[in-house]
Amino acid sequence: MQLKEKIDSLLAEAREIRLQTMEDAERYRIRLLGRKGELNDLFEEFKTVEPGLKKDIGQALNQLKTAVQEAIQKAKDGCLQKESTQAASQLDLSRPVDERIGHRHPLSQVREEIFRIFGKIGFDVSDGPEIEDDWHVFTALNFSADHPARDMQDTFFIERSGTPQDVLLRTHTSSVQIRSMMNHPLPIRTLCPGRVYRNEVVSARAHCFFHQIEGLYVDKNVSFADLHDTLLYFAREMFGNDTKIRLRPSYFPFTEPSAEMDIACTICAGKGCTLCKHTGWVEILGCGMVDPAVLKNCGIDPDVYSGFAFGVGVERIANLLYRVNDLRLFSENDRRFLSQF
Ligand code: PHE
Repeated sequence: MQLKEKIDSLLAEAREIRLQTMEDAERYRIRLLGRKGELNDLFEEFKTVEPGLKKDIGQALNQLKTAVQEAIQKAKDGCLQKESTQAASQLDLSRPVDERIGHRHPLSQVREEIFRIFGKIGFDVSDGPEIEDDWHVFTALNFSADHPARDMQDTFFIERSGTPQDVLLRTHTSSVQIRSMMNHPLPIRTLCPGRVYRNEVVSARAHCFFHQIEGLYVDKNVSFADLHDTLLYFAREMFGNDTKIRLRPSYFPFTEPSAEMDIACTICAGKGCTLCKHTGWVEILGCGMVDPAVLKNCGIDPDVYSGFAFGVGVERIANLLYRVNDLRLFSENDRRFLSQF
């Protein structure tokens, strides 16, 4: 058969062929367009065609190639459509929803509740890196050069030479407060949530990482009374309207004065139980007025501005709400635990 006739007969086939399945389409593709397929043979033969005929035969060959490709595409489209109508006809809309559908992790639920509570009084949310430098985690926050928190026993260092450039895993999200004060215009009212790391032996009561939400408010005339009332509002929203709080004097390098806040035990309501170790109170957060030296480190004039800060452990709040007695459960992703929330 002459080359032209072969092309014409294959062209007629391509225009008529009805490829029913994906397999038919694939077999046809390999036969015509495959590396050892008929089209390649025709193109080989085309090299020997005398110059006067090249134009016509060349055109016919290209037409054939397009027709073959179209036939294959049409078959594929048809098969896909058939599959999807089949799938749709098998859909049983009356089937009950799969009960294993996912839901928010308890720590995320607590975090979102804290965002909601502080959001109502104007706090936004700030973000910062978990891998930090010494300056943002310690130096800017007024930690002395020999402060024990800088000890390898407490902090995971990544690069260490004893300078503010040291690289480490943040031990608290106060580093995000520093970044906010350096980068944002005043006043600032923000929450700094995130994972923090401490070099602890993992047990039911301690973990080498946990989650914190720190809060920061810097403006003119911010007072300790503002701090107290903000925390009282938070405690009542979180644990119920009749929740009692107390502030005990404490110490943090970056706040002065500093305090620790307790709430009346949520289990025994102050009467004394094992959760509150028979004191009637459980500690829930650290707080204080931002030390003027910290404001100065961030370029804020402490004679004009003042601020308060607080830091709360998300696991701690979740423990109080849900009475989880082993911290490790929060990060093990055991469905038997998670599905209870
Ligand atoms: N950064 C402190 C901690 O991690 C918590 C804190 C924050 C205390 C803000 C006071 C003010 O323990």
